[in-house]
Amino acid sequence: MVTIWKNEDVEWLLNFAVKTEDNSGGGWLELSVACRGNGKQTLTVGLGKAEEFTLLAARRAVAHGVNELKKFSVKSAVVDITTINDMVGDNALPIAAEAARLALFKRENWKSKDKNEDFTLYIDAAGQPDAEKILNTATGLAEAVIFARDLVNKPANKLTPAMMAEAVTEAAKKANLQTEVLDAKAMEKLGMGALLAVGQSSANEPKMVTIAYTGNPGSKDVLALVGKGVTFDTGGYNLKSTAGMAWMQGDMAGAASVCAAIVAAANQKLKINVLAVMPMVENRISPSSFLPGDVLTSMSGKTIEIGSTDAEGRLILADAITYAIRNKGVTRIVDIATLTGAVVGMFGHTTAGLMTNDDAFCSAFMEAASQAGERFWQLPSFPEYRKLIESPVADLYNISNDGCGTIAAGLFLEAFAEDKPWIHLDVAGTARLDKPYFEFQSKGGSGMGVTTLYQLCHLLAEK
Ligand code: BES
Ligand code: ZN
Ligand code: ZN
Repeated sequence: MVTIWKNEDVEWLLNFAVKTEDNSGGGWLELSVACRGNGKQTLTVGLGKAEEFTLLAARRAVAHGVNELKKFSVKSAVVDITTINDMVGDNALPIAAEAARLALFKRENWKSKDKNEDFTLYIDAAGQPDAEKILNTATGLAEAVIFARDLVNKPANKLTPAMMAEAVTEAAKKANLQTEVLDAKAMEKLGMGALLAVGQSSANEPKMVTIAYTGNPGSKDVLALVGKGVTFDTGGYNLKSTAGMAWMQGDMAGAASVCAAIVAAANQKLKINVLAVMPMVENRISPSSFLPGDVLTSMSGKTIEIGSTDAEGRLILADAITYAIRNKGVTRIVDIATLTGAVVGMFGHTTAGLMTNDDAFCSAFMEAASQAGERFWQLPSFPEYRKLIESPVADLYNISNDGCGTIAAGLFLEAFAEDKPWIHLDVAGTARLDKPYFEFQSKGGSGMGVTTLYQLCHLLAEK
């Protein structure tokens, strides 16, 4: 827990020191411990040289200190942010609160006996107006990231499409949001042949959940956040290898992040209308599975030849996007998906791939990403690339005829965005971290995209 300090008695003080010209103070992330008597101690984290300091450095330093205290099984500590405040122009409170909450994150486990790691972290915000409100906003955003991490970390037997539908519905209800759950029957009525083809591969029925937040009732604009919710991807009859199937429980990370983002936007009462759309399926092998060579008819009417049953994400997203446009009247679309292995080869685990059909929308998105501290990189969508997804027998082919797997997947989705401004995010490499880069990250689900999507809502709401 992270709260504002009101002179509570604590075991530890966590503070920060800048390296000075005479080389006193802390080198970057250097630690020193001092005893204050009465069993009370101080941990000081070095911030390095002032001229090299950034907001990212502030987040890292705070999380580093908290991680170190966790190693000592500390139960309570107060964080003194005055030094960081001096560096970032009185802006340290939200940064410190967010980083501290993320550092306190503990991965869910199913051990029969688990250690109790209760740790109350107080932030000394003396003299800061609106401290409680700023802290609540910052920790609310961190909680949203944690919500997404927790869902991504759940194994497939603890998170089937029905269970995920229930989890996101519950989160939405807590934020007083309207939800709707479509089952296979409803999908059939709507003609969602692409989503159903994947959904029918498993005895665990597909679901599609929408969550609506109307923060600006006077406006007709609705931002759709569409997230891939494959609760497990075996590849289907184009079965993945053992190594390829590892972690495919996290193939619903896109859906987790759009749910987290819309709830965070609603909790902050942002003046914007948002619709989260989450198609949820398992991609498995069964007598009713779809097969390579099948031709599907999507809800849009466009037909799709299946080159691989493992390229299932774009199929479920296609119908989800059409539903958002035609049945819900959304005016702008962001989709987020763990879509291609190719993006991992290209950008590794630091940067997500981005495609768009609208430069102005994309520049707003990039500004939001920079505020969030998340990295996205735009890929080209030159018309020549459309050849990659041509089929001799259908309107579209669900894999590429000639490499460029991430671009082909993006262009496939663009074909369903109709004339709406659209952004596609491929987070296959970034939604899970095996080796975290920064101290506020953790092994497993990363919550990639949550903060950027929230910041995008914030930014569009201001306009
Ligand atoms: N869920 C995978 C993509 C993925 C790969 C996510 C690695 C996370 C880590 C997706 O459904 C998939 O299987 N994509 C195929 C597409 C191919 C068959 C065109 C891929 O990238 O290999
Ligand atoms: Zn797949
Ligand atoms: Zn997948």
